[in-house]
Amino acid sequence: MSTTSLGPALEKKRVLVCVGSGGVGKTTVAATLGLRAAVDGRSSLVCTIDPAKRLANSLGLSALGNAETQVPAKVLEALGVRPKAALHAMMLDMKQTWDELITRFAPPEQRERILSNRFYQSLSTALAGSQEYIALEKLWELRRRSDYELIVLDTPPTAHALDFLDAPNRILDFLDNEAAKWLLTPALKAGKIGLSLFNLGSTYAAKTLSKFTGVETLQELSSFMLAISSMNEGFRERARGVRELLKDEQTGFVLVTAPQVERLDEVTHFQSLLKQNQMEVLALVVNRVHPLPSPALWEDAARLTQARRVKVEETLNELRVLAEQDAAAITQLAAACPNTPIIQVPRFELDVHDLTALWRTGRFLLGDEQIS
Ligand SMILES: Nc1ncnc2c1ncn2[C@@H]1O[C@H](COP(=O)(O)OP(=O)(O)OP(=O)(O)O)[C@@H](O)[C@H]1O
Ligand SMILES: [Mg+2]
Repeated sequence: MSTTSLGPALEKKRVLVCVGSGGVGKTTVAATLGLRAAVDGRSSLVCTIDPAKRLANSLGLSALGNAETQVPAKVLEALGVRPKAALHAMMLDMKQTWDELITRFAPPEQRERILSNRFYQSLSTALAGSQEYIALEKLWELRRRSDYELIVLDTPPTAHALDFLDAPNRILDFLDNEAAKWLLTPALKAGKIGLSLFNLGSTYAAKTLSKFTGVETLQELSSFMLAISSMNEGFRERARGVRELLKDEQTGFVLVTAPQVERLDEVTHFQSLLKQNQMEVLALVVNRVHPLPSPALWEDAARLTQARRVKVEETLNELRVLAEQDAAAITQLAAACPNTPIIQVPRFELDVHDLTALWRTGRFLLGDEQIS
């Protein structure tokens, strides 16, 4: 098998976006790529989402949302390497990013009304695609106003690829929903509070709105829709910018997945959607692959006393079965995505929560080491 590496992408891309479903290793891969790029000479920013506390600590990140923090050179030097460029990291605070967006785009007289509206306060978590959108929005802003040579974006766990790709459209659809405004506003003005959202039909926005009826009053909903309608143009323009950035030739996607057969359809679908949308998939990273137990381990087992040997060989056999299952899944994945490089990262004994473990992960992403 030829060596596959994300090295060339780290040298020439300006933006890398790590995507995939929940818990597969997106944050780990994003942090690793930023680390390697900086050590190899490109100033980098890793924008993480909900990193494990220990990983955040090891990158020197405190609880401060959205603060870009330089990882001290001496922390990197403890890895035994001399970084050629600076590494910055941040934790994306979704709520704060939404607030910044509203503050920037809402007319001053509407700002407070939107920010204090209870409906708005649940928007950032309840609207499907809104988490994905705000991460992309932040990326776009960082790309425009900073001069990092590389920005690596971690993304929220995405159950459906479409939530991710459609995020800008969904937000626009939601903000743009004339039907909702038209129906809600006159009804409320006329005092018909009992209006059923069912009347709004089956638009995406209506479905979203109806989720809130239990928690929010229609009055609040209506004033939110009215207030936010004043900022549509700014949003629309930015959403367009976000979409363009994702298609830019200096942007690439790294699709992270687990080696299980049940994941195959999902990841194949995700990669084909990205490609259909003219987004470049640089690699499929299959993370936490069980490697075959090495011959040395079998030889060691053979030297043990009978009783212990049986036990150890049982474990080695179990590991062998897991490795074979993973290998079969990866073969299927390669057949389903013939034009996309596949990079395998082994399952390490411990979580990847410090820089040494990130460095080790990087050896596989960069092709310095491969699962045999
Ligand atoms: N190759 C690996 N070997 C062992 N542990 C790993 C490996 N890759 C990731 N992990 C651990 O698995 C957990 C999940 O990884 P990570 O947080 O990167 O996933 P994620 O895709 O970002 O998750 P989420 O969707 O919840 O954001 C973490 O504790 C991480 O340290
Ligand atoms: Mg994560």
